[in-house]
Amino acid sequence: MAQVSIRNLSKIYANKVSAVDNVNLGIERSEFVVLVGPSGCGKSTTLRMVAGLEEMTAGEIWIGDRLVNGVPAKDRNIAMVFQNYALYPHMNAYDNMAFALKLRKHTKSEIETRVKEAAEILGVTHLLTRKPRQLSGGERQRIALGRAIVRHPLVFLFDEPLSNLDAKMRVQMRTEIDKLHLKIKTTMIYVTHDQTEAMALGDRIAVMRHGKVQQFDEPLKVYDHPANKFVAGFIGSPPMNFMDGKLYKQNGALYFDAEDFKVKIPQSKYDKLVSYAGKKIFFGIRPECIFDRLFATNATEANTIPAVCDVLETMGANNFVYLVSGKHKFIAVFDASNKPAPGSNLDVVLDMEKGRFFDADTEETIT
Ligand SMILES: Nc1ncnc2c1ncn2[C@@H]1O[C@H](COP(=O)(O)OP(=O)(O)OP(=O)(O)O)[C@@H](O)[C@H]1O
Ligand SMILES: [Mg+2]
Repeated sequence: MAQVSIRNLSKIYANKVSAVDNVNLGIERSEFVVLVGPSGCGKSTTLRMVAGLEEMTAGEIWIGDRLVNGVPAKDRNIAMVFQNYALYPHMNAYDNMAFALKLRKHTKSEIETRVKEAAEILGVTHLLTRKPRQLSGGERQRIALGRAIVRHPLVFLFDEPLSNLDAKMRVQMRTEIDKLHLKIKTTMIYVTHDQTEAMALGDRIAVMRHGKVQQFDEPLKVYDHPANKFVAGFIGSPPMNFMDGKLYKQNGALYFDAEDFKVKIPQSKYDKLVSYAGKKIFFGIRPECIFDRLFATNATEANTIPAVCDVLETMGANNFVYLVSGKHKFIAVFDASNKPAPGSNLDVVLDMEKGRFFDADTEETIT
């Protein structure tokens, strides 16, 4: 049985807001699962119901082999780290970490063993006598993690624990959390609106929207095989480009007609798409799947389209090239050395095998 099992979980707030809508997730022992989605999609509400901090409207939550509906937060054997981790300012780091154990009447030597062990794992042994105001943001965050680790919980719950840190520190702490998970192997559920954080940390990620889980899978599966147009556009940076158009059939082959250009559908996608011939459809292509024809090895007449460079952003490692083809605008990522001048014309090659097609009505992925 999963370590944490969320079954048909729903939350309707008193003001009739349906924040979480029939969520089902099975989280395995030692797994690192990330809940990700835009603001207001129900991530925190879901996590807070697992923690026992929010009442559920319907459904079941199991932790280990125990149904915890109605079990108070303090008895659920979980530890939660929030964005506002608020350490006690008058206590030093050691006492901050020891506090919850004291409340639970652990012996002094047990407390000392656990705090020292956690401090060792987090590399903060030398900071234990300092007060929070004598620590940097990242160090404070580590102490907040330590406060959770000493409890030896069955499950860690994180709600945007890094969002108070600056960009560089956030990336650093992200790898720390990853390493921490490798060391202690406790089951973790981590909430963020940042898709790069989700991709980097999750063994599996659950992409949420409007209170519903859109897809729950390994990061690369979600990236390569998004369940629908929303997931395709949410995961990945710069995001996937979308173009609307129509499919048509000619001489036994399928084509995508975007009015301003036409491209051929690869044979591998023919069977799944043939029934859409004559219909409206969304085409999606990631920025790294668009190439300058001058440097492309797979250019054919059927996958090459004319475009104008609108804006060029040099990022150092690569360039973001904002392109226009008729009414369609899209972004390509080019090598650092390839810098088309704004206003210049170029031909770009679309890697059609990597292209994705979405039903125009349901926005579900077709292939
Ligand atoms: N106490 C509350 N009473 C009424 N509505 C609430 C309450 N808390 C949250 N909501 C609403 O429920 C929905 C989900 O909120 P939730 O906090 O779970 O979102 P979130 O995914 O964590 O967003 P964010 O990324 O902004 O933290 C939102 O529409 C929010 O306005
Ligand atoms: Mg939230």
